[in-house]
Amino acid sequence: MALVNMRDMLYHAYRNGYAVGAFDLVSLDFLEGIMAAAERCRSPVILSLAESHFDYFDFELIMPAVETAARRSPVPVAIHLDHGASLASAVRAINQGCNGIMVDASHEALADNIRSTRAVVDMAHACGVPVEGELGDVPGVEVEDAERHPGKIACTTVDAARNYVKQTAVDFLAVSIGTVHGRMKTEAGLDYQQLEAINETLKIPLVIHGGAGLNDDQFQRLIRSGVAKINYDTALADAAGKQVRTHGVAIHQGGYTELMKGVRDVISAEAERCMRVWGSIDRATELLAQCTPWAPVEHVIIYNVSDISEHEVETMMAEGRRVLSAIPGVREVVTGRAVREDAKYRYTWLVRFCHPAVIDSYREHPAHVAFADKQFRPVAGERISIDYQTTGREST
Ligand code: 13P
Repeated sequence: MALVNMRDMLYHAYRNGYAVGAFDLVSLDFLEGIMAAAERCRSPVILSLAESHFDYFDFELIMPAVETAARRSPVPVAIHLDHGASLASAVRAINQGCNGIMVDASHEALADNIRSTRAVVDMAHACGVPVEGELGDVPGVEVEDAERHPGKIACTTVDAARNYVKQTAVDFLAVSIGTVHGRMKTEAGLDYQQLEAINETLKIPLVIHGGAGLNDDQFQRLIRSGVAKINYDTALADAAGKQVRTHGVAIHQGGYTELMKGVRDVISAEAERCMRVWGSIDRATELLAQCTPWAPVEHVIIYNVSDISEHEVETMMAEGRRVLSAIPGVREVVTGRAVREDAKYRYTWLVRFCHPAVIDSYREHPAHVAFADKQFRPVAGERISIDYQTTGREST
């Protein structure tokens, strides 16, 4: 059960002079390869899902696997939405199980970036979820040649960063100081002085996008200057692609599983190389002792109704499932009916919140207030409710 609070994770890295890898994954091979590396290295890790990759996999299908990998792992893991494009995508990601959100409104004018980011921060913080914002623009596209997207690097300035963090209340800041997303042919020129000045001013964990192609020395200088999270994509994708091509030529024939042999291993080897360079190896035990586990809250109600038919109860429950499951921080809404006719209470709600903070934000959410006041409470006078966290779980 090592899904942990990402804020605790990144502050630990920031204070102890190392960086956690946020590895973008697009398939189970990536997920298994990254997790195998983290477990071999006893390293914390961030499983990162980029919204721009959602064409390559079904987000709702992959998330249960990502969450299972995190929860069963002995090392600390966080699950992050990378480059979230809107408030709606941030809500969807949290409700699907992400416990860290990046909102990328860096292409918008500063005032709009601040407004869009603040809206995501307010929503996410009410769910207990930390937020990464981006200021300045890191050009390029993951897994493409950087030269194809030469866009001008809009560097993050100290004054803008101070103002942005104050106004948005983001927990971490992605800075633009010379890195580029995608495949680099030349060495990126990094402005360490600027990074140090931003770090001195903000004193919050900083994030580097466009990790692929940087050398060990560059990584270490970035980490010494306040970088606690490094986003990494293209190099993993290229290692996997190269493995498929070379292996495909070597074997000439064979089906999918044959062709994919070794892919997980090369992804794992590259992730391990990064963890070693970024200093996150052997940090798992100490970090686990210092950070809050990420555990859901079960909000359970058992109740009886008066003066309505069974059909009307069904309709009310269906409406509740629809309305309540859209509230930020709600992972699941399950309704139930007692098996025995003579049960003391006949009906149940189980609403699963991603974090204890949602107990309050859910109660006050207008959609909940309207449903509870107009449709539920008038007919369900007799009820008991409890919010609890599980203290243990066994399954076969
Ligand atoms: P690279 O593809 O250059 O590693 O960048 C990854 C990234 O920044 C994802 O957000």
